[in-house]
Amino acid sequence: MADNFIVPGKIFHGLGTFNKLAELDGTKALIVTGKGSMKKAGFVDKAVELLHSAGIKSVVFDGVEADPSIETVMAGFDMMCNEQPDLIIGLGGCSAIDAAKAMWVFYEYPETKFEEIIPPFTIKPLRNKARFVAIPSTSGTGTEATCVSVITDREKGTKYPLVSYELCPDIAIVDAELCRSMPTHVTANTGLDALTHALEAYVTPLADAYTDSLAERAVVDIFENLPLAYQNGENLEARQKMHDASCLAGMSFTNALLGIVHSMAHQVGGMFGVPHGRANAILLPSVIRFNAQVCEAKYANLAKVLGESSSERLAWRIEELRNQVGVESCFKAYGVDESAWKAKVKTMAQNALNDACTGCNPRAPSLEELEQLLNLCYYSR
Ligand SMILES: [Fe+2]
Repeated sequence: MADNFIVPGKIFHGLGTFNKLAELDGTKALIVTGKGSMKKAGFVDKAVELLHSAGIKSVVFDGVEADPSIETVMAGFDMMCNEQPDLIIGLGGCSAIDAAKAMWVFYEYPETKFEEIIPPFTIKPLRNKARFVAIPSTSGTGTEATCVSVITDREKGTKYPLVSYELCPDIAIVDAELCRSMPTHVTANTGLDALTHALEAYVTPLADAYTDSLAERAVVDIFENLPLAYQNGENLEARQKMHDASCLAGMSFTNALLGIVHSMAHQVGGMFGVPHGRANAILLPSVIRFNAQVCEAKYANLAKVLGESSSERLAWRIEELRNQVGVESCFKAYGVDESAWKAKVKTMAQNALNDACTGCNPRAPSLEELEQLLNLCYYSR
C-alpha cells in the first residue's frame, strides 16, 4: 500500500469543458499537437481563440508523430526555450500529451540529458516555469491523469518510459467532444486499454481504498458504455462516460501501477504490431485466471460491481465484452503468423519478465509461466 496519492491539480470534465481554456491564467501558451484529427476538426484553432479571449498568446508546435521520438521532444523543447511559455498544452492522443510532458521536463531543466531521466523516478521536482494542461482526444491511456510519458529512441529501436510523480499534469480537460471522430476500432482498443488499467491496478500490492474506488467505478462505466460508444460514435453521452472512465482508471493505475497483462502486451505490440489495448484485451482474461490463485477474494469483490461473484465470471464477462466490440479471442485469430510467433515467444517471455510492470503483479510469474500464458493467448480458448 502506498502512503501518498497523486492526481492532477484540477480536472474539468464533461461535454463543452474544452471552453474552460478561456478561463486559464497565463501570458503565453505553447500548444503541442500532431498534424491529424485535432487540426482537421478545428480544435487547434479553437484553442488559440479561447486562449486569446483570456488574454493569452499562443504558439503551436504541431510536429508530434505516433510514438514520439527524442528528436521531436528536442524540437519542441527548442521552441519552448525560444518562446518562453508559462502554459504548456498537450492536445490530442496519447502521443501528443506524452511528447508535451517530456518537452516540459526539459524546459524546466534544460541541462537534463535523456539518459538522466531514465530509469524511472529520477526526475527532480519541476521548477514550475510553466503549468501543464492535458487535453486528450482518445479514451484509453488516461495520460491526462498519469505520471508517465513514453518516448521512442528510433536509433536504438527502444522506448523509454519516463515515470515520475512530477509528470502528473496540473490541469486536465476531459471533454468527449474531442473523441467524436475516433474510429470504431480505436474506440474498442482504447476502451479495453482503460478497462485493463482498472483491473490490473485493482490487484497490485499498492492498491488501496483510493485506487480501488476509482477502478471499480471505471469498470462499471466501461462495461455499460463501451458497447454503446462502439455501436454509435455519435452517442456523446456514452463517449463522455468512457472519457471519464479512462481518466478514473488513469488516476487509479498511476498510483497503484500495473501487472503482467501490460508486460506481455508491450512485447506483443512491439514484435507484431498488435494495438496496445487489443493485446491487453486478448491477454486479460487468462491473466485473471492465473492471478486468481493468489487474489480470488479481490477479483470476486470487483466482480460484484457487475453482479457477478467470482474471478471466473469476471473473466467470462470480459470475454463477452471483447466479443461485443469486435476484438478477437486470441492472437492467431488477430492474424499473427504462427511460425513467427513460435520463433519469438521465448524472447517475449524473457522481456516480459524483465518489464517494469511485472514487479507489481500480484502473483510473481516464472519465465515458463509467462511463455505458457503467451501461448495460451495465441491459440483460441
Ligand atoms: Fe495501457
